[in-house]
Amino acid sequence: MRRLRSAPWIRRLVSETTLSPHNLVLPIFLRENESVPAEIKSLPGVKRLTPKEALAQTEKAAALEISAVALFPWVDDADKDPGCRLAVNPENLVCRTIAALKKNTPEIGVICDVALDPYNSLGHDGLVSDEGVILNDETNALLAEQAVVLALAGADVVAPSDMMDGRVGVIRSALEGAGFIDTKILSYAAKFASCLYGPFRDAVGSSGSLRGDKRTYQMNPANYGEAMREAALDVGEGADMLMVKPGLPYLDIIRGVKDGFGLPTFAYQVSGEYAMLRYAADAGALEWERALYETALCLRRAGADGIFTYAAIDLAKLT
Ligand code: PBG
Repeated sequence: MRRLRSAPWIRRLVSETTLSPHNLVLPIFLRENESVPAEIKSLPGVKRLTPKEALAQTEKAAALEISAVALFPWVDDADKDPGCRLAVNPENLVCRTIAALKKNTPEIGVICDVALDPYNSLGHDGLVSDEGVILNDETNALLAEQAVVLALAGADVVAPSDMMDGRVGVIRSALEGAGFIDTKILSYAAKFASCLYGPFRDAVGSSGSLRGDKRTYQMNPANYGEAMREAALDVGEGADMLMVKPGLPYLDIIRGVKDGFGLPTFAYQVSGEYAMLRYAADAGALEWERALYETALCLRRAGADGIFTYAAIDLAKLT
């Protein structure tokens, strides 16, 4: 076996997996203005960006041939409410930024999360009843409205990350009804109730408000078969692309989804995964660039066509 590993050229020639900037999506955290801190304590090297800063960062990503950006807003507590009204306001930070991005860098895709958590004073992805129960179908109606508002602002892809049942179908028919026949749905089909989302919740400011946890809608990390059933439902309801999240501890799920359904499949290297690598590199325990490249390559090998990663800019420069 070692004959094929004897020099860089032959190792390259027989490499079974490739990694290119075209495979990457850069998530961007938005802040309304400079009075909101840029620094995210638990996510070193990642900053919240004003719309103007987001335009510059997106230009950088486009120049590196990264395929798309994904937008997530930091919302002031004063603007949140249990009805999540700002989520469906066409003047909100995300909508204004989409419009500016599509004008400035039309060559790069814009993906937007469909979920209520940044706007919810109760911190959940869904609407919550007085008894503290997540209201599935009421949430779906609002998510459909949010998806249409995002499409209207110019979003290329809407990405429901909420894990309500039946939301892909409801969103698809709302988009069709509003004439958005080309808006793509990237469904977070298998999203697990993971400990690895902590820094993200700091970044969007949803950690303080979250009552309880998300285990009644996000999946149990123990379950492979259930992830396949989730994916099958989303495919049936009209998803164009599927996401598995988190990434690295869930390689078997990525492989199963890719082999089982054949749709374009994405892995999200989530905030906690990024933080693990970053803190370990900062402590001298591993090399940042090598760790980044290897983990992303392994997500590709497992079957991911695309990867969401906060390190997309660094990674694109390594490929
Ligand atoms: C919320 C959402 C989350 C992430 C993306 N969309 C967090 C959550 O479910 O609490 C996590 C991403 C990350 O950790 O990087 N709808």
